[in-house]
Amino acid sequence: MNTSDRVILLTGATSGLGRAVAQTLAARGGRLILHGRNPARLEELSKEFAKTEAQIDVVQADLSDLQQVEQLAKEVAELTDHLDVLVHNAGVGKGATDARELSADGYELRLAVNHLAPFALTQRLLPLLEIGAPSRIVNVASGTQQPIDFSDPHLEHGYSGNRAYGQSKFAMVTAGFALAKILLADVVTVNSLHPATLMPTRMVKEGYGYTVDDLQTGVDAVVNLVENPALDGTTGQYFSIQQPAAAHREAYDVETQRRLWELSEELTGVRY
Ligand SMILES: NC(=O)c1ccc[n+]([C@@H]2O[C@H](COP(=O)([O-])OP(=O)(O)OC[C@H]3O[C@@H](n4cnc5c(N)ncnc54)[C@H](OP(=O)(O)O)[C@@H]3O)[C@@H](O)[C@H]2O)c1
Repeated sequence: MNTSDRVILLTGATSGLGRAVAQTLAARGGRLILHGRNPARLEELSKEFAKTEAQIDVVQADLSDLQQVEQLAKEVAELTDHLDVLVHNAGVGKGATDARELSADGYELRLAVNHLAPFALTQRLLPLLEIGAPSRIVNVASGTQQPIDFSDPHLEHGYSGNRAYGQSKFAMVTAGFALAKILLADVVTVNSLHPATLMPTRMVKEGYGYTVDDLQTGVDAVVNLVENPALDGTTGQYFSIQQPAAAHREAYDVETQRRLWELSEELTGVRY
């Protein structure tokens, strides 16, 4: 893919890993559609990126609200007739406390933002990705993965921030494996990754208070999945930083994939 012609949509571009990935991609040129939820931060981002090599558009949506996810897809479709890469980076961490939170739709917040929003956004943007073929979907997931209790997906019982975060990232990876099976690898690829461990971003500072890897490790890992030509046609994989790795054992379970898919379609109202 020629970097000067490509169109990339990146969610969660206003802070942390997303902002750093946006900086790297903007230096390559092409067109970047940068998503954020906060208008002031988006405005600042577009000013800061105005001098880069890339053509920049910004789009706003709170991903904890499925109506805004739908609107976001419409806005993107007004901006471009195709997408080369869709990077699902926006996410909510485990939080500073173990207080359970709900989305605008009444769903457990981390499941909603980290899994249901990307699930719905991908479905709505598939036509643009298919026109952009060969195109890529990159799921910024995590090594923290915990299987879903299908009898209590919104964690009304036994809630902890870590469990909520872990099940949301498990869902993202598991749905990624399932989606890769229904899309042709030479049309749209779908891969997920653990970008790096406890990088110095807001969610890590509030959730842990200490850091391990630097931000650049995560940026390089995401950019690898976005543009490494050696990964052309690679799909349905999970990467730990830049290495192919094993996700949670249950993420490969066909019955788990089926139940998660059914639940995700039911909760989002989208149908693949
Ligand atoms: N940091 C790590 O070590 C680490 C490790 C593994 C995986 N990850 C993953 O990396 C991704 C980026 O996280 P980060 O570390 O850069 O944390 P961060 O600095 O807290 O960034 C999170 C991003 O998600 C956006 N976001 C959160 N809730 C949103 C909502 N309801 N609607 C729309 N956007 C929302 C934030 O927007 P605002 O800018 O408006 O706040 C921000 O851009 C996440 O998916 C995270 O799970 C990070």
